[in-house]
Amino acid sequence: MVDVCPRPEGEPVTLFDDAYAKDPHPALAALRQAGPAHRVTSPAGIPFWLVTRWDEARRVLADPSLSKQQPVDQLPPPLRAALATQMLLRDPPDHTRLRRLVSAAFTPRRIQALAPWIERIADRLLDDMDTVSESDLIERFAVPLPFEVICELLGIPVADRGPFHAWSTVIITGGATMVDAMSQIVGYFRDLLARKSAQPADDLLSALVTAGRADSDARVTGGGRAGDGLLPAGGGLSDDELVGMALLMLVAGHETTANLIGNAVYLLCRWPDQRKRVLADPALLPAVIEEVLRMASPAATSTYRVTTQPITLGETTIPAGEQVLVSLLAVNRDPQRFPDPDTFDPDRGDGGHLAFGHGVHFCLGAPLARLEGRIAVGRLLTRYPGIRIAAPPDKLRRRTGLLMHGLEALPVHLRG
Ligand code: HEM
Repeated sequence: MVDVCPRPEGEPVTLFDDAYAKDPHPALAALRQAGPAHRVTSPAGIPFWLVTRWDEARRVLADPSLSKQQPVDQLPPPLRAALATQMLLRDPPDHTRLRRLVSAAFTPRRIQALAPWIERIADRLLDDMDTVSESDLIERFAVPLPFEVICELLGIPVADRGPFHAWSTVIITGGATMVDAMSQIVGYFRDLLARKSAQPADDLLSALVTAGRADSDARVTGGGRAGDGLLPAGGGLSDDELVGMALLMLVAGHETTANLIGNAVYLLCRWPDQRKRVLADPALLPAVIEEVLRMASPAATSTYRVTTQPITLGETTIPAGEQVLVSLLAVNRDPQRFPDPDTFDPDRGDGGHLAFGHGVHFCLGAPLARLEGRIAVGRLLTRYPGIRIAAPPDKLRRRTGLLMHGLEALPVHLRG
């Protein structure tokens, strides 16, 4: 199938085939070389524009004339309201109000305070893996770690996590039952938020529910976790907005972070010298995680926008009313910005990768994702310094679809 034809005389580039799923970079490099923006048709026949160069990507992500609001009329009613009110899908001033309300929970200082219990979660998962010598790192570690973290942060009771995990796995893996699973989660969150409202605890959902109350004494106080009473009062989130916020935290923070952890372990196994260096000097971990974010951007293309007026990128003018996606994978390997972009080089310094987006929608969870990535990789390597991949590179499957970039499974020998 021909998806994009970058130049009249050029080879067509396909973004939805097996070769792309195995390694998206050759196709993206061809597009990037041909120009900054390309008209693509999805397998479902939906046209959109893909931005493939760093300069233009920054412009698009920060340009207020591109809207985040997308039609949700096709969705069943319980989902429609929760999705339409999410800040990721709103423009200012709604976006500003929603973001301000929750951002106090995500400051770097506040997130750093979560380190001890993220370490405990990582260690427990590693203890569970310790009984076997070969394991799927994605299933046993990369997916459950951010899941446990987000559950703790939101305040999902331990007893509810079984079904909750099943729904969120369906959402991550996609497929026919995804809308069903989302509807069930929405129903669950409605019920949970009512419980939190009646009996607030020390967690983010309680803080969000109570932040809207006129009586500021009702706000949650104390404790070392994210909901410790510092969300602004008087936010007045509607029920739909509350559910939308809870759903966004779960969806935005789970698969992305799982991909980050899986991609990090994969890259460190492929670049053993860098692994040796970080083992010898754990202070390199932050730079390693930044380089993983650049080279294997977990959110791949999750950057939906729609033009409300024509925008010109290079020689291409995108008309009003068109859907635009930035390929974070492509722009973070733009050689104009990152010399020798296909080399894993944690020493390259802050080149301004766009793995967390840019502009007003810049990832709210970036400090948390970075912390989880550092802890996960640090604890794993300390415990299993000789870990190696237990499958040939051509047998590893990436998750399909354009939106995310991560491995479906990563079989590893834990003890080399
Ligand atoms: C937004 C990536 C982890 C919460 C975004 C955006 C990107 C992104 C690219 C902007 C999308 C756009 O402009 O359209 C990532 C990556 C992660 C990660 C790569 C992990 C490695 C997290 C975590 C959380 C989170 C752990 C929270 C628990 C959010 C929220 C937004 C967002 C709430 C919407 C912000 C807004 O609209 O103002 N993320 N994310 N993310 N992310 Fe993350």
